[in-house]
Amino acid sequence: MASHSHLFANTPATIDFNSIKTLTTAEAKAVDQLIINELSSDVILINQMGHYIVGNGGKRLRPMLLLLAAKALGGVSDSHLLMAAVIEFIHTATLLHDDVVDDSDLRRGKESANAVWGNAASILVGDYLYSSAFEMMVRTGNMRVMEILSKTTTAIAEGEVLQLLNCNNPETTEEKYLEVIARKTAILFSAATRLAAVIAGASTETEEGLAQYGQHLGIAFQLIDDALDYKASKEELGKNLGDDLAEGKPTLPLIYAIQNGNESEAKIIIDAIKNGDRNVFNEVYAVVQNTKAIAYTEQRANEEAQKAIDALNVLPDSEYKEALTLLAKFSVQRNY
Ligand code: IPE
Ligand code: IPE
Ligand code: MG
Ligand code: MG
Repeated sequence: MASHSHLFANTPATIDFNSIKTLTTAEAKAVDQLIINELSSDVILINQMGHYIVGNGGKRLRPMLLLLAAKALGGVSDSHLLMAAVIEFIHTATLLHDDVVDDSDLRRGKESANAVWGNAASILVGDYLYSSAFEMMVRTGNMRVMEILSKTTTAIAEGEVLQLLNCNNPETTEEKYLEVIARKTAILFSAATRLAAVIAGASTETEEGLAQYGQHLGIAFQLIDDALDYKASKEELGKNLGDDLAEGKPTLPLIYAIQNGNESEAKIIIDAIKNGDRNVFNEVYAVVQNTKAIAYTEQRANEEAQKAIDALNVLPDSEYKEALTLLAKFSVQRNY
């Protein structure tokens, strides 16, 4: 596919996500077909909700990373395609549950499933997606694959519960916050890129390198997600701003603002975390800006993206490796 290499001749100032996506167009189509097939159930509500949330929505970043890593290692097999679909199923299941927990009513630019069908339906269909994902992975007959994925979903659940415990607690530290995002978000990215190596039969060193890449990229990705909850455009992001504040979530922008604001600024943030109040968004945003908390969060994300890129040295040079480098940068630059 030498025809694409001109895209990456120099690192562009703004990463063009859609042109990177063209490197996996054919495989992504096959993954989407697998997803559609697996969504079919004779229980009508499962079909409806499944198609509603999966539809055309979402960046499909995790399957894309898995496919690019597979290509960088020599090619995409049927098991890679199946794993890419499994990863997106698990991701979508967590989103269904997450929007209930976070009381979010906008997702992928549309009303969230819980806003349309209610919390009970979202939890149950989320469970269905989780179960389907496990049914699919069993088809590989590969114990390593099942071990990786079951450990991953356990860690995600731990991350979400840890986060719940930190809610409304303004004493949450940066370290505790990082522990949450490592589990709730980064581990799924790490599983995606690790599985590419496992299925390709790559060396342990390559597997670990790709797992590190996914882990660091995932941390960068969530750091930026938490910055975007304060500074994005709702239309571009497809989610409401201020959802974290409304839940009293002590994300890094707030943790940093407490530590670096003056006494009255710190109090505004502390009270907002304790009360979980969306109505004070403007005051909180002003403090976040004034203390350069978003800039700090972005700087931390940049450091993680760089670590992700460094971990790619286990791969031979190729346009796919170049694409993985660009996606680490995209995870930080993105505004959706
Ligand atoms: C949203 O993930 C949840 C987080 C881990 C921040 P994405 O931003 O990848 O969501 P979609 O799939 O593109 O909607
Ligand atoms: C990511 O956290 C959720 C999961 C990893 C399940 P958020 O709660 O910040 O994600 P969004 O912003 O709702 O997509
Ligand atoms: Mg959420
Ligand atoms: Mg968020």
